Amino acid sequence: IRWGRLLLGSILLSVTGGVVYLSYGIYEQRNPNEQAPADPTKKTLVILGSGWGSVSLLKKLDTENYNVIVVSPRNYFLFTPLLPSCPTGTIEHRSIMEPIRHILRHKKTEVKYYEAEATEIDHEKRVVKVSDLSDIKGDVHSTEIPFDYLVVGVGAESATFGKTDCGVMFAGIPGVKEHACFLKEIQDSQKLRKNVMDCIETALFKEQSPEEVERLLSMVVVGGGPTGVEFAAELQDFFENDLKKWMPELADKFKVTLVEALPNVLPMFSKALIDYTEKSFRDEKIDVRTKTMVKNVGDKYIDVEAILPDGSKEKQRIPYGCLVWATGNAIRPVIRNLMNKIPEQKTARRGLAVNDYLVVDGTEGIWAVGDCAQSKYAPTAQVASQQGAYLARLFNSMERKEIIESEIEQLKELEASSSAADDKTALQKTLAKKDRELKKFAKISSFEYTHQGSLAYIGMDRAVADVSLWGGNVASAGGLTFLFWRSAYLSMVFSTRNRVLVIMDWLKVKVFGRDVSRFV
Ligand code: FAD
Ligand code: NAI
Repeated sequence: IRWGRLLLGSILLSVTGGVVYLSYGIYEQRNPNEQAPADPTKKTLVILGSGWGSVSLLKKLDTENYNVIVVSPRNYFLFTPLLPSCPTGTIEHRSIMEPIRHILRHKKTEVKYYEAEATEIDHEKRVVKVSDLSDIKGDVHSTEIPFDYLVVGVGAESATFGKTDCGVMFAGIPGVKEHACFLKEIQDSQKLRKNVMDCIETALFKEQSPEEVERLLSMVVVGGGPTGVEFAAELQDFFENDLKKWMPELADKFKVTLVEALPNVLPMFSKALIDYTEKSFRDEKIDVRTKTMVKNVGDKYIDVEAILPDGSKEKQRIPYGCLVWATGNAIRPVIRNLMNKIPEQKTARRGLAVNDYLVVDGTEGIWAVGDCAQSKYAPTAQVASQQGAYLARLFNSMERKEIIESEIEQLKELEASSSAADDKTALQKTLAKKDRELKKFAKISSFEYTHQGSLAYIGMDRAVADVSLWGGNVASAGGLTFLFWRSAYLSMVFSTRNRVLVIMDWLKVKVFGRDVSRFV
């Protein structure tokens, strides 16, 4: 009985603790403190983008030290790791969006935000040209923003080109832009959700021929990287758990195909996890076509070149109803334009070449983070957020250093003008202390990335994980890894609000299933 009471007591205590923690999180988020106005005499720091890199910088930046201006066409932060769950309705879009206004309103000092796109960066004149490209425009919709410091975190756009086996890119594949759906932004996901449901309802239209039904229900995902794999898995789950139930006539006709140019999917994962994923996909009846490169995209089919087991090449045609293009990243025009203006960027291929301190090569006072920067790391959220946090430390130290330097100047002047020996000794002591403090801030180390691991959802409540532990790598897969995947992402989503919404979405799908209506 005593043990039972103890257990009950600890459960009650944990639940109470959890409720208090949650309530505090919600209260704090809904009730931001008063904000000090920005100080125009401080240096102007312009931050482009509201994604992983920029928001991670903003989170840790002491905004009272700078006159901070954020420019981004997206007035929210998007938690991309859960985006592949959105088109099928496992997660609702707004659950993984955090308004930039919430983030900025919680800073100590006011931060300006303009919903606009940077169209040109003039690194010599030190101005950014910005344009409001939204539907509603005021009298002023283009202007220039001068900066002392600039952080470029505009990410990348979806690639519409192909890659050869050795990674060399060739010009855009015809038809991709016109016919394919992407999965990078909320709008892509909304379009995808509409398209999938439209294909299904159209396939069930009266007197549709069997060939047309087969085509319309053929869902082709191009790109066996994590985006393609996770979305293919979510789509097959949607079919198995929901679509089949409400539309039994779809059974045996709905088909998900994953097309990958390389010999295997998920190239960044360890061999055992790649094999596990490919086997799971076969069990789930997802058709995985590796060593198959898409060469042309028509409105109802794709043309591919497949390498057969004997090494010969064969041209094939795959009909599709819905085509999802997930072949990685391409450089945004504003970045390409800046690269063209800087001779030091001539050899950069993936984005702005940066040094070990993330300073854009060939510029001064301009840094780049995340997918728009070419560093030695993969273009992931992990890298972007660590780079953003590094820059916050750097900016906080830079400002502190300047303050100490000016204090030292003043102390030196005082010491020179002071005649009393006691005053001089006291001043010298303070000076020595300030010198020591300055040394601490003057030493800014270069950016070091810590890889925490890779995770991917592979369908049927299973996931794969390559996690870095104690300097080594631990690979795991299956149902328990799925729970780990969920708890890891839950701990990473931006706010308590997002966390609660994501949990509610998961519960909703467990209890009621996914919604099969076409309305987004
Ligand atoms: P982004 O997060 O893309 O942000 C770019 C920002 O810049 C956006 O706010 C955009 O609106 C803004 N912008 C664009 N153009 C301009 C302009 N001209 N001027 C001003 N602002 C502009 N990585 C992981 O590590 N783990 C995962 O599980 C994972 N899952 C992913 C799932 C999907 C579906 C996708 C697409 C990516 C995923 N990634 C994941 C990769 C990760 O999302 C990116 O590496 C990360 O978003 C890069 O951060 P970023 O800040 O560079 O760019
Ligand atoms: P990716 O670059 O990782 O993969 C794209 C795949 O498309 C490659 O395997 C490539 O060989 C293939 N491909 C390219 N052209 C092709 C063609 N013409 N025909 C057939 N296949 C073709 O891209 P992805 O998945 O969009 O990811 C982008 C970045 O985001 C990566 O760095 C990735 O690690 C990260 N990410 C991480 C996730 C995770 O950790 N769970 C989830 C999603 C993205």
